[in-house]
This record gives sequence, structure tokens and C-alpha cells, in this order.
Amino acid sequence: MTSESPTPPTVVIKTVDNGPYQVKGPIRLVDHDNNVYDLEGRRTHLLCRCGKSATKPFCDGAHKREGFQAAERTRPTSDR
Ligand code: FES
Repeated sequence: MTSESPTPPTVVIKTVDNGPYQVKGPIRLVDHDNNVYDLEGRRTHLLCRCGKSATKPFCDGAHKREGFQAAERTRPTSDR
């Protein structure tokens, strides 16, 4: 028997240019009231960050109609 714990799953969160957060990996998504979203069978999720989606927390494409601008980029670690 080994005492090593399994490698935790990797979740990647990527900002889509002028769009949603793209979340890849096994996640558990919970609302403010602790209700769990049914994400069965889905490994990639697009979460709204413009605030205009009618299906929050998911992106419905409203960011394009609304002309959402999110120009931020990551900075090198040495700048933080
Ligand atoms: S980011 Fe797509 S609708 Fe908000």
C-alpha cells in the first residue's frame, strides 16, 4: 500500500479574447445557494464574464452583440 495521494485533476481556465472564461477539466459548479449545476458529460464550459448573458453563469454569446471589451493580458511573474 502506498501513502501517495493521486495527482489532483488539472483544471485550465482561459480568458477568451473579449469573451467568456473557458474552463476545461473536471469541475463542480455551485451557485450562491449551494445548488450544483448539472455538468454531466461536459468537460469544457464557457462562463460569462461580460454580465449580459441570459443563461448565467454560462455564456450565450451576448458579449458579441454588446461589444464586450476585455483587453487584459497576463503579466510576467516578475512584474507582480
Ligand atoms: S461572456 Fe459571453 S455572454 Fe457574457
